[in-house]
Amino acid sequence: MAETNSFYITTPIYYVNDRPHVGHCYSTVVADAVARFMRAMGRDVFFLTGTDEHAEKVVASAAERGITPLEWADRNAAEFEKAFAFLGCSHDDFIRTTQDRHTEKVRGYIERMLESGDIFLGEYEGWYDPSQEEYLTETTAREHGYKSPVTGRELVKRTEKNYFFRLSAYQDRLLGHMESHPEWVQPESRRNEVLGRLREGLQDVPVSRGAGGAASSWGILMPGDESHRVYVWIDALFNYLSTVDTAERRRYWPAQVHVIAKDILWFHAVIWPCMLMALGEELPGTVYSHAFWIREGRKMSKSLGNFLDLPTIEAYCRPFSEGGFGVDAFRWYLLTQGPLGSTDADFALEKFIEVYNSDLANGIGNASSRVTNMIAKYFEGECPAKHDESVLKEKAAACVARAVERCGLMHSDPVSGIRAGVELSNAVDEFIASTAPFKLAKDPANMGRVGEILYACAEALRIAAVLLSPSMPGVMGDLLERLGQERADEKGWFAAPLEELCRWGGLKAGTRIEKGQALFPRWDADRVTPMASAAS
Ligand code: MSP
Repeated sequence: MAETNSFYITTPIYYVNDRPHVGHCYSTVVADAVARFMRAMGRDVFFLTGTDEHAEKVVASAAERGITPLEWADRNAAEFEKAFAFLGCSHDDFIRTTQDRHTEKVRGYIERMLESGDIFLGEYEGWYDPSQEEYLTETTAREHGYKSPVTGRELVKRTEKNYFFRLSAYQDRLLGHMESHPEWVQPESRRNEVLGRLREGLQDVPVSRGAGGAASSWGILMPGDESHRVYVWIDALFNYLSTVDTAERRRYWPAQVHVIAKDILWFHAVIWPCMLMALGEELPGTVYSHAFWIREGRKMSKSLGNFLDLPTIEAYCRPFSEGGFGVDAFRWYLLTQGPLGSTDADFALEKFIEVYNSDLANGIGNASSRVTNMIAKYFEGECPAKHDESVLKEKAAACVARAVERCGLMHSDPVSGIRAGVELSNAVDEFIASTAPFKLAKDPANMGRVGEILYACAEALRIAAVLLSPSMPGVMGDLLERLGQERADEKGWFAAPLEELCRWGGLKAGTRIEKGQALFPRWDADRVTPMASAAS
């Protein structure tokens, strides 16, 4: 990949038939935190999310409601946009696959692949369920005794003409790419999964759906053959390219990271790169495939009706004074406790409270109160003179280095990069405990030393707030302002690149330091909250 300052990160585009829940919000918040971090680093970031609208289910759901598929899609796409705006996501665009800018590009890509012979008209034979108008895999058909799993009617063996993508032709090239680019699929265990399946061999895959059936009026028409429509998955994958395939945005291709979950890994790790090879496009850097959120120990599912949905998320995100934890604390929980690795993660109120209290209320919140209060008390709210001889200086440098190395998500253990700022604020607390400036201040002769200690504390907090801004832009912006600094703008840009901003000594003597209200008030065990009932 060419050396470039651009950084392009994407999320899956979500089905409009679903309403947004914590899983969708998670992938988008993870991508958001990375996008913000990279903007803070001074990179030319493009962050994309959006909705996948041509699924066949959309037609039926719209019909049930007596509206058109597009009206149904409009309604639900707006829900996703609302959810992501509410969570402070800083995407640069929101792509909807029904938009002309996308459909026209997709037809162009397919035309190119038809011309090159990578897409061809072939025959498909499979078990067809006439009562449900769908094909079943051999395994499912066999499991159900060659009867419809839904209606029990006989399945029929049917042959259909279909367009196929010559996936098999790319097997060796993809294997070669995976071997020379170990970062292509992350985390490692997912990469091994893909490699294992890949070695079993690749078959050509259908990329169209024939006329007839619910979707005959919905979906992108196959170029040159209006009796077929482009299969929704093929249409959807192209969003990553179509959105930036314009004169102004071409510099963003290839994407550095596609954030997805394990459910859609095969499409992203195998089909997508092979289609890009067929088009002669460069391949993206990494498909980062996280695991799943479960809830209070149980899988989230429609039948259990236990999705952590938007109203519940909103309850968690209410301000503290209204019984919630605030948006920033919610983001923090997602980012640090989420299934970024290969094991599923549990969303549980009790755990949320524990993490909120230890990392935020007793962690950075408490350290900030102590330092700003002491500067108010002993120095009338003016930052004492700069001081370099502190263990905190080295600690800050190590935390910055770790965040810089890991927050781009391509490396192992990104969570330890995200947590670097909290670790630094914990070091501030320990430093206060070991140096006891509040005791020293009892003797006016010690005020020089007290000033040195408090300068180091405030400076370390400033650096911690910069490091934590991509994860918690709201409250960390407030903390920076209390320390007399500028917060990042809405998208996470600072006036200077992060590494420069985080250099020790940025805090100037004489800067006004405000004490203000607790950033994260402590959560008492007996506090009444609307989430308690929602969680059960
Ligand atoms: N439309 C396709 C994706 C096309 S991308 C070119 C799709 N949509 S989806 O609405 O089902 O979203 C799937 C994605 O939502 C997952 O890959 C993941 O990013 C997120 N999540 C959905 N449920 C989730 C959890 N329970 N936990 C974590 N994230 C999950 O598939």
